[in-house]
Amino acid sequence: MSSIENEGRDGFSSRFGIICAAAGSAIGLGNIWRFPYIVGESGGGAFLLIYLGFILLLGIPVMLSEFVIGRRAQRNALGSFKRLAPGKPWYLVGVMGIVAAFMILAFYSTIAGWTLEYIVKSLTNSFSGKSPDQIALMFDNFHTQALWPLVWQLVFMFMTAWIIVSGVKKGIEKYAKVLMPFLVILLIIMAVRSLTLPGAGEGLAFLFRPDFSAIDSNVLLAALGQAFFSLSIGMGTLITYGSYIRKDNKLGNIAVEVSVADTLIALLAGVAIFPAVFAFQVDPAGGPGLIFNVLPGIFQQMPGGYFFGVIFFILLAIAALTSSISILEVIVAYLTEELSMTRRKATVMATSAAAFVGMFCTLSFGALEGFTISGLHVFDLLDFTASNLLLPLGGLMIVLFVGWYMKGVDVKDEITNGGVVRARFTGALRFILRFVAPVAIAVVLFDSLGII
Ligand code: PHE
Repeated sequence: MSSIENEGRDGFSSRFGIICAAAGSAIGLGNIWRFPYIVGESGGGAFLLIYLGFILLLGIPVMLSEFVIGRRAQRNALGSFKRLAPGKPWYLVGVMGIVAAFMILAFYSTIAGWTLEYIVKSLTNSFSGKSPDQIALMFDNFHTQALWPLVWQLVFMFMTAWIIVSGVKKGIEKYAKVLMPFLVILLIIMAVRSLTLPGAGEGLAFLFRPDFSAIDSNVLLAALGQAFFSLSIGMGTLITYGSYIRKDNKLGNIAVEVSVADTLIALLAGVAIFPAVFAFQVDPAGGPGLIFNVLPGIFQQMPGGYFFGVIFFILLAIAALTSSISILEVIVAYLTEELSMTRRKATVMATSAAAFVGMFCTLSFGALEGFTISGLHVFDLLDFTASNLLLPLGGLMIVLFVGWYMKGVDVKDEITNGGVVRARFTGALRFILRFVAPVAIAVVLFDSLGII
């Protein structure tokens, strides 16, 4: 099959635009909120090594595969499979991705809402003079109530929807372009302060000294889920974005650059947070509240901390926004292209549905805490199901699709832009896609589920 022309679809206008948008999708709460607390729950250094291994061996190949599928098919996550494999059940991978997108949007907006509250708390100087214990208490009082966490969640959902309605180029590209470098600079400043706190060494040791006795099948699954979540892979986000990439951009380079940037930022967040976790004697395995208990304390200990705190939480909310729009875009692109809805109607419907489910996630830290299914409340249940099960399963199907179903020449054609670009890694890549990645993902996934 010769490659499909662009057909006048909306798309990214420049290489810089797509890098920013894909990195904007990848870099978000996954790096700064989720990564530290999962590392903390998973015992530190050994988890980190495995995580890095998964990024390299599985993450980059899956990301590249999604770009290949999306750019070749010029369609949304579901439509791409229909187009490349007409009449075959492969489109179910897209269905799964859309389900995962709803789930992730639902719980992601809970945490994004918390960051909005923390912008206000920082602005009003609420942390001033508070001890780590008092800061932890403030977080407890906030996130277990109903009203404000829900209000902020809906505000965040509304902002996400508003950007999506304004279209691909004008929306995503514009917002993603300028702001992420500032986040990096701020994280570096915070890391320096955190590293110079008394007792910081213990945190570094926790993060970087591997203790392999802490590894079991649950930790492996957590590392796999975190790698997929953080890179935005396994549910078609990057199939959708891939379909907007111009035909002369190099997919391999984009995949590597985005993955490296995402991983460096997670590491930076780890270095900023763990020394402070130990200096303030916070429990590293304390769960999703970790950064909200620790970060205000770091700003308290910094000259200009008020200023840095306000800016940081604003940037974090924006990073969350450039990720949440990429999640919503999966659903909206599907609804507009496959069901011929207008962009506005698709956005309103998808956002309302995700917000409805999302409210249960938010309330599961307070009013609905006792409502659990197999020991997990709604938030944890959705996070676990989407991040640790659906994304890896989606990733598995994606590498099988590109490795086994698509023709080798077509894959190569897409990666080399029709033979224009030299890509010496295609042989190794094909081996990874056909054998290494499917086996590794399947073993980790099915082992932790007790299937093998
Ligand atoms: N990668 C995003 C983050 O780290 C979250 C995300 C997951 C986005 C899945 C899209 C798809 O915050």
